[in-house]
Amino acid sequence: MSNKVYRASTTAPVNIAVVKYWGKRDAKLNLPTNSSLSVTLSQADLRTLTTASCSASFPASEGDSLLLNGEPSDISGARTQACLRELRSRRAALEAADPSLPKLSTYPLRLVSENNFPTAAGLASSAAGFAALVRAIANLYELPASPSELSLIARQGSGSACRSLFGGYVAWRMGDKADGTDSMADQIAEASHWPDMRALVLVVSAAKKGVSSSSGMQQTVATSGLFRERIATVVPENMAIMEKAIAEKDFEKFAEVTMRDSNSFHATCADTYPPIFYMNDVSRAAIRAVEAINEKAGRTVAAYTFDAGPNAVIYYQEKDTEAVVGTFYHVLQGADIGGWKSADIKGLKPTISLDE
Ligand code: ADP
Ligand code: DP6
Ligand code: CO
Repeated sequence: MSNKVYRASTTAPVNIAVVKYWGKRDAKLNLPTNSSLSVTLSQADLRTLTTASCSASFPASEGDSLLLNGEPSDISGARTQACLRELRSRRAALEAADPSLPKLSTYPLRLVSENNFPTAAGLASSAAGFAALVRAIANLYELPASPSELSLIARQGSGSACRSLFGGYVAWRMGDKADGTDSMADQIAEASHWPDMRALVLVVSAAKKGVSSSSGMQQTVATSGLFRERIATVVPENMAIMEKAIAEKDFEKFAEVTMRDSNSFHATCADTYPPIFYMNDVSRAAIRAVEAINEKAGRTVAAYTFDAGPNAVIYYQEKDTEAVVGTFYHVLQGADIGGWKSADIKGLKPTISLDE
């Protein structure tokens, strides 16, 4: 038996949706109730780093494992298993076609992953995490898979992860096939199309959320009437306006839809029974601060959005840095003012550009 250890590492960026995915039509295949659209943030700032290794010398009794941020993490869940199964079967097909290849598909996998930002706190750790996991294993297995194919696999791990395989402005088309083979992401514009776009990440809390995204959205689908309205009319309209706003680099429209869609998503959470609250008083203070910035500027220069957590992401254009960043200056310097704790992300530069 060979002691050789095969290894591959990759990083993947976070993406923050401006038209949110919230709702599954098929929980097993992880198919969404609506299309969504996001902006991929620079991985120089927020990223997952994952190393995948395998070896014939790893004891079979240990099975596959994941060390996440230094702690053993459970990978027995159906969604992680679906990703591993899919990647292994693609490797096995290569090995069957070329018997000279080492049989990596039969070796236990060891995954080691680190997020340089809070995990499960509403900053898209599952997106960067599953994108990195899938790409690291695809690299280890030397699969000739395109970003779209990897997107399709990553979607099965976490929906939002399918969008982190691309940089810039990314749409996840919900698709209509029952087997999900048309539900994946594609890039609608490169970051360089709108090079002025910036994001501010304001960390209110690095704590793990009380209700995971997976469980929260399933409760919403099951109990919210408002949610039905959201997927029937609100999201399709927001998708169309947003795609046009990005194509035309129309920040006013981009900002309005971003804020409206975040509000609509959190309204369906409040309409869930029992209700789910991801935002807190500090989050709401950020909304008011953005409104004040826009009022003072006499035009829309900043747009807030919140994922399933209390932390704010604020989109703005480089030319408006003074108006936007100035307001949050003390918060961004790491001062604990009104509950902001941005300094909790060690070394994070709060002004973030986009990933190519
Ligand atoms: P978030 O808002 O951070 O995306 P979610 O509730 O959607 O929160 O998902 C958090 C879960 O995603 C974690 O509990 C973990 O299971 C998974 N996850 C996060 N980071 C990674 C990673 N680097 N590798 C693998 N899985 C990860
Ligand atoms: C609010 O992709 O984390 O961030 O597919 O169950 O893993 P699972 O959910 P996840 O949900 C993300 C929800 C959101 C909106 C978005 O990213 O589009
Ligand atoms: Co998530």
